[in-house]
Amino acid sequence: MSEVIPTQQTQQTRGLVISESTLEWADGAWQQIVNKVEKTSKRIGVSFPHASVSGVYDNMRPSWWTAGFWPGILWQIAAEGNHPALQEIAEQIEEKLDEPLYALTVHHDAGFIWTLSALANYRVTGNERSKQRGLMAAAQLASRFNLKGSFIRAWHDTEKINRAGWSIIDTVMNLPLLYWASEVTEDPRFRHIAAAHAETVVEHFLRPDGSSYHILEFNPESGEKIGAMAGQGYAEESAWARGSAWMIYGLTLSFHYTGDNKFLTGAKRAAHFFLANLPEDHVPHWDFRAPDAGEKPRDTSAGACAACGLIELAKIVPQAEASFYLRAAEQIVRSLYENYGTWDIPEEEGLILSGTSNLPGGVHIDTPLIYGDYFFVEAVSKLRGAVLQLW
Ligand code: GLY
Repeated sequence: MSEVIPTQQTQQTRGLVISESTLEWADGAWQQIVNKVEKTSKRIGVSFPHASVSGVYDNMRPSWWTAGFWPGILWQIAAEGNHPALQEIAEQIEEKLDEPLYALTVHHDAGFIWTLSALANYRVTGNERSKQRGLMAAAQLASRFNLKGSFIRAWHDTEKINRAGWSIIDTVMNLPLLYWASEVTEDPRFRHIAAAHAETVVEHFLRPDGSSYHILEFNPESGEKIGAMAGQGYAEESAWARGSAWMIYGLTLSFHYTGDNKFLTGAKRAAHFFLANLPEDHVPHWDFRAPDAGEKPRDTSAGACAACGLIELAKIVPQAEASFYLRAAEQIVRSLYENYGTWDIPEEEGLILSGTSNLPGGVHIDTPLIYGDYFFVEAVSKLRGAVLQLW
């Protein structure tokens, strides 16, 4: 096991002004998180959870897009020091991730997987082997860039569908892997690719009202935009809440790494759309344009991810604007803690209830999701004033 050394922050940001009352409830939330994760880690161990099914986390394959979130939770806690057992599990998961890494089966979600495993290890401990893994994942992610369309390709093909021209909003949250790779190699090519994809996000995925498409298809030869698909949202022109959350946090991070104002403006537009459409308890329904009639579950994972983006936004906008984004994030995270937390449900392994993975596909609806748990942990940690930034 590598030694924990002080966290390096790669981005220049202003400190947050967090109120005493927020620090107090966030501390309480953090204690609940640590207690629960210490307990669940003994059963979950070195595995790849995605969703809690009847209170118990499942175990997906290592190449599944969610494979980084459990080690990400473990690193968020281990970075404090004094959690060697959690750190050891995270390190063992990272080793198991060598299977998809060396099989070259990496897809657009390489950022989700290796940022929160190998990069987290490198950022917290300085482990060289982890740095090499991060660079290998970054090289595979960069290789998915389509020069004509200026987008990173999403999934591989299926037997029946050629998906060379498909791009999805989720990829914007994977770009920090590329920005990081440029920093450590002092070679701007990774950053050029990330920024070019982020420009496509602002130009094509972000709608004038601040909402987001999930899937766009481009002609892979000419780069011309062909059309949109609903994906995990209700409809092509609807507003999948997690897509908006990826947009808020992803564009904020693209601004951090490039200083390009169009990313900051895009992040703000996405944030204002998201906040204007929240229901009374500040936790989004799974799609902001899903019809009121019928099933309309929440997606707590979208709320948690958006809150992390809003907190980072608060660090980079002028002081006069910062409190607007910080207060909005506090309201979301506090509601997740008080209204969706599983602190009184010891038999439930998830930390927050009511995530919705893929409603149109009928997959994991209204249940804890590992990425919802991850972003909740990250948000609470940030609201306690922690400076660890894994992205
Ligand atoms: N990246 C897939 C999702 O957000 O569900």
